[in-house]
Amino acid sequence: MLDIRNLTVRFETRRRDDRMVLHGIDLAVGKGEKCGIVGESGSGKSVLALSIIGLLPRNARAGGEVLFEGENLLKASERQLTRMRGDEIGMIFQEPMTALNPAMTAGSQIAEALHLHHEITRAAGRAEALRLMDMVKIRNASARIDAYPHELSGGERQRVGIAIALALKPDLLIADEPTTALDVTVQAEILDILDELVAELGISLLLISHDIGVIARMTDRVMVMRDGRKMEEGATGTVLRAPEHPYTRTLLAALPRRTRAFLEAGQ
Ligand SMILES: Nc1ncnc2c1ncn2[C@@H]1O[C@H](COP(=O)(O)OP(=O)(O)OP(=O)(O)O)[C@@H](O)[C@H]1O
Ligand SMILES: [Mg+2]
Repeated sequence: MLDIRNLTVRFETRRRDDRMVLHGIDLAVGKGEKCGIVGESGSGKSVLALSIIGLLPRNARAGGEVLFEGENLLKASERQLTRMRGDEIGMIFQEPMTALNPAMTAGSQIAEALHLHHEITRAAGRAEALRLMDMVKIRNASARIDAYPHELSGGERQRVGIAIALALKPDLLIADEPTTALDVTVQAEILDILDELVAELGISLLLISHDIGVIARMTDRVMVMRDGRKMEEGATGTVLRAPEHPYTRTLLAALPRRTRAFLEAGQ
C-alpha cells in the first residue's frame, strides 16, 4: 500500500548550509498492517510523516519515492494530494491545538472534512459529525459539538483530531505522537480508541512515537530512527526483546525499570 524508497529531505536555508534531515529512508506499510516509527526528538519522524502527505514546509526538498498504491506522491499535483488527504490517507497531527482551526467549532471542522469530499447537506454533515464524536467517545458530544477548540480539553481536542482523520474512512492512518501531550490515563483511553477503530475499519496504521511503550502496545512492526537514518526495522516484539542496534538498546535502557519489565513480560 505505502512503499517509501530512498526518501531524502533537505531544508534549503539562506545561509547555504542546506540541512539534510532524512538520508534515504526505505519503509513499506502493507494493508491492515500496524507499523511504528520510534526515535528521539529531532530524528526526522514528523518530517517523514509530512513528506508522505505532501505537507512539507516550502523550503524542503524531497527526493526518492513515496509510492502509495503504486503512485509516487512526491510527483503528485496539489489537486491530487488534496483529494487523497483524508479520503485515502488520514493524519493525526502531533499538536492538536495547532492542527485545529481556532475559529471553527469542533462539529463544523469535522463536517468540513466531509463536505470537502462529498456533497452532503448541512444537516447530514452535522449528524455525521455527532456520530464521529460519539465514536471517539467525546462525552456529551451533543453539547461539545458547538465548542471551539480552546473550550475543549487537550484530550477532547485530540479526539476531534482523530474524528477528522477517520471521517472519510481512509485506507492508511498516520498518527504523529497522538498522545504525547496528554496525561497517562487519557493517553491510555485514546490509544484504546485508536486501536479499536483501526481494527474495526481495517485501516493500516503508521504510528509515530518517541515512547517505546506506546509502540509496543500498538504496533506489529517498528522502524527505529536516529538523525534521519533508519537504525533497524523488524517485528516489534523481536526488536524490543532483542534489539540489534546499540541505539535501540539505549532507547530501551532509558525506559523506567518497571516499564521495561512490563514490556519483557508481554513479549
Ligand atoms: N521548517 C524547517 N526548516 C528547517 N529545519 C527543519 C524544519 N522542520 C524540521 N526541521 C529539522 O528537521 C529535523 C527533524 O525534525 P522532526 O520534526 O521531523 O523531528 P521529530 O523526530 O518529529 O522530533 P519530535 O520527537 O521532537 O517531534 C530537526 O533537526 C528539525 O530541526
Ligand atoms: Mg515530531
